[in-house]
Amino acid sequence: MTINVSEFYRNAKRWDVLEQKIFPKLLAENKRLKIWSAACSTGEEPYTTAMVLSHHQPLSQISILATDLDENAIQRAKVGIYPERSLAEVPAHVKSKYFEKQAAFYKVDDAIKRTVTFKKHNLLKDTYEKNFDLIICRNVMIYFTEEAKDQIYKNFSNSLKPGGILFVGSTEQIFNPGNYGFETEDTFFYRKK
Ligand SMILES: C[S@@+](CC[C@H](N)C(=O)[O-])C[C@H]1O[C@@H](n2cnc3c(N)ncnc32)[C@H](O)[C@@H]1O
Repeated sequence: MTINVSEFYRNAKRWDVLEQKIFPKLLAENKRLKIWSAACSTGEEPYTTAMVLSHHQPLSQISILATDLDENAIQRAKVGIYPERSLAEVPAHVKSKYFEKQAAFYKVDDAIKRTVTFKKHNLLKDTYEKNFDLIICRNVMIYFTEEAKDQIYKNFSNSLKPGGILFVGSTEQIFNPGNYGFETEDTFFYRKK
């Protein structure tokens, strides 16, 4: 079962928190952030991350791992061409800077595309890389059992550096963050202790 619905700046207010609060704190510790967009679908989420982080540092310093189970979604993400409805929440200045209109579609700027490395990864089976400053995993946990969610949150906690942040979807609040070694940093953002 894979439902690939995504969009740029999904729940835009959360991306404002990422830009204005979370990234400045992380960058105060370390200029080369290790970032993972897990279950990235067709790429809107990791590309949004690069656009938001570009307000703090040059694209040449940005590197984002983006993974999904679905190889077709990954292929579409690599192409980077989207219908207008996917861009509904993109701020006007970002849209003019990082998208090129091609007939009824919008192509993501190549410099943004170069910041993202796409790979196939199954959150339920595959090993997790370590030492991330930021893991973004949104709008996928709803598909998993409580047992699977518990294991995935443990894995994310083990994959984050102390002080690293987990950014979840707007229906995916963690009710017992302390069980995973997290404390709440902001709504839908958890800091690894
Ligand atoms: C609704 S999309 C969310 C996309 C994006 N994170 C967002 O919030 O807009 C859910 C994605 O989870 C992926 N997915 C489902 N099960 C997965 C698994 N076990 N491991 C990795 N990705 C999975 C699907 O392929 C789909 O692309």
